[in-house]
Amino acid sequence: MRFPGSSIEIKTEREIQFMREVCALAADTLSRVGPMIEAGITTQDIDDFVHQDTLKLGARPAPLNYRGFPKSVCTSVNEVVCHGIPGPRRLQDGDIINVDVTHLYQGYFGDTSATFYVGKPSKAAKHVTEVARRSLELAIAEVKPGNRFGDIGAAIQEFAEAQGCSVVQDFVGHGIGRVFHDEPKVSHVGRRGTGRRFKPGMTFTIEPMINEGRYETRVLDDDWTAVTIDGKLSAQFEHTILVTPTGCEVLTARSGRLQNSEMFDTYF
Ligand code: MF3
Ligand code: CO
Ligand code: CO
Repeated sequence: MRFPGSSIEIKTEREIQFMREVCALAADTLSRVGPMIEAGITTQDIDDFVHQDTLKLGARPAPLNYRGFPKSVCTSVNEVVCHGIPGPRRLQDGDIINVDVTHLYQGYFGDTSATFYVGKPSKAAKHVTEVARRSLELAIAEVKPGNRFGDIGAAIQEFAEAQGCSVVQDFVGHGIGRVFHDEPKVSHVGRRGTGRRFKPGMTFTIEPMINEGRYETRVLDDDWTAVTIDGKLSAQFEHTILVTPTGCEVLTARSGRLQNSEMFDTYF
């Protein structure tokens, strides 16, 4: 439902139920990616797995052919910030890789990602990945009626910068529902007390991309792969969130720790 004068959709209870279902399926697929992450596999192997797993659940992989994206999942290794295209690249011990899964099920989208360790991470890799995970958790804690979208960006930026990292500005979270990338744009930087207020029934993603070095990005000649401008590491985690009367519900939550990742969902 869209109220006049507001570009941010408020989901009905029925629409929320569809969101819960698709988000749970996306979370399930991502949870099964963790155990397959090891040195020697290719990012195409991850694409094959996610594609098949999604279809088995009766869902469709939303990235495939989305604005010309050629694969079913985004795989972003090391200095790749987001939108990495699966292919013949083999994972090596010490790499970090974000796997970003989006399912389409019964007309609704569910979007979630995590960064995984390939073997043993370097100190720098572990740091940037931990900061990314914690910044998402801190952002989620801001989501309750009365608070504002600027509080999300402020929480992420204050924490990440205090940890010596930087926050990507070229890509943002987004409203989600029957539309993959809907209003509002959810900035991962900002000032407290600014922006629209959270209202029960809003659904959107929070997906901070945290860089080890500079925050700027550039897009490779394939028109998709975004990399850090200085070639240093970038890590990202993403959840789809519902605003409730008392706070929020993390629709793409899993229980416990994701294998080979910092990700553990403790806030619900
Ligand atoms: N899943 C990404 C996001 O979090 C979008 C991927 S679009 C694609 O918004 F085309 F690259 F798949
Ligand atoms: Co998203
Ligand atoms: Co995503």
